[in-house]
Amino acid sequence: MAYLLVLVFFLAALTHSTPKEYSQQGEGAILDSLKQQVGLLTNETKNYSPQVQPPGTNRRIPQSIIIGVRKGGTRALLEMLDIHPEIVVATTEVHFFDWDENYAKGLEWYKNLMPFSYENQITVEKTPGYFTSSLSPERIHEMNSSIKLLLILRDPTERVISDYTQVYYNRLENHKPVQVIEEIVIRNGALNTKYKAIQRSLYDVHMENWLKYFSLDQIHIVDGDTLITDPLPELQKVEKFLNLRPRIMSSNFYFNQTKGFYCIRSDGRERCLHESKGRPHPMVNSTVLEQLQAYFKDHNQNFYRMVNRSFDWH
Ligand SMILES: *[C@@H]1O[C@H](CO)[C@@H](O)[C@H](O)[C@H]1NC(C)=O
Ligand SMILES: *[C@@H]1O[C@H](CO)[C@@H](O)[C@H](O)[C@H]1NC(C)=O
Ligand SMILES: *[C@@H]1O[C@H](CO)[C@@H](O)[C@H](O)[C@H]1NC(C)=O
Ligand SMILES: *[C@@H]1O[C@H](CO)[C@@H](O)[C@H](O)[C@H]1NC(C)=O
Ligand SMILES: *[C@@H]1O[C@H](CO)[C@@H](O)[C@H](O)[C@H]1NC(C)=O
Repeated sequence: MAYLLVLVFFLAALTHSTPKEYSQQGEGAILDSLKQQVGLLTNETKNYSPQVQPPGTNRRIPQSIIIGVRKGGTRALLEMLDIHPEIVVATTEVHFFDWDENYAKGLEWYKNLMPFSYENQITVEKTPGYFTSSLSPERIHEMNSSIKLLLILRDPTERVISDYTQVYYNRLENHKPVQVIEEIVIRNGALNTKYKAIQRSLYDVHMENWLKYFSLDQIHIVDGDTLITDPLPELQKVEKFLNLRPRIMSSNFYFNQTKGFYCIRSDGRERCLHESKGRPHPMVNSTVLEQLQAYFKDHNQNFYRMVNRSFDWH
């Protein structure tokens, strides 16, 4: 259980989503609030100056997108991939394919939100909402039918709790009433399967949409639980998937005993979590946990068949 708590702390802090008003702010402000939000202590030498275009660079539409899942560890994955010299990442969640008002602005608008890159570099964007959005697969396919997609998943029950926890703290901060998780998850004695956090954990349902447009070998699934306990092997699989030379090393990570998870070290930057972002995860009634696990069981089996791979989810 302690292990689970640590995991949730880490993911809660690293996968905080970016509100859309950021698109209206300057990029410096975006970066600052992002860092605060994400809770990363960034002591960087890497020079972020998005207004200045280094010679030989351009903004390019992404060749790879982290499509989700919300609370799966998308921020951690993006930050870790950013270690690779041939990867450049968009720091904000763009919400281009899942929000109609953004999609209507067109591909040029989207491209202008991407970082400058050299020709040999791969641009990566992440918006966790894409995975569960029914329009995103077709729209991404229309942009680039041979794009490479990254999907990071965790145990669906843990994901629900983490999803709930994020909303819980947002509501607390905004002085809105909160409910304990059991009251939301259980309605009239039965599992409230309409609850959005439960819906988002039906990986097979969402995956079906993606497989209508993309072949399985275009979608690489990162095991979000493994990424946190042992990041390197998962990242090496991503390098292989993206046809990149192996450049991410074990020396890019150091385990912080106090925190109980890995921090990133690259380009003289060290990135860990901010203390205040360690959000305690509620204790969930074990009967309710079992009900969730029972509900996801068939969906998980179906998902394993779809992707020809199994995970050790409950
Ligand atoms: C960044 O690191 C340097 C040396 O490692 C240190 O002197 C400095 O105080 C750090 N800055 C911040 C903001 O943590
Ligand atoms: C589409 O994605 C593939 C795979 O990442 C990439 O090789 C190709 O350059 C992309 N095409 C465009 C137009 O971005
Ligand atoms: C490890 O985490 C602790 C507690 O958050 C912090 O005080 C310490 O500076 C960290 N150490 C390193 C080497 O990052
Ligand atoms: C969990 O909830 C069930 C009813 O849903 C209740 O019977 C049980 O006592 C609760 N367990 C604990 C440990 O609170
Ligand atoms: C499923 O995976 C196994 C091994 O992981 C592989 O040998 C087999 O070809 C895969 N089947 C399909 C349909 O992709």
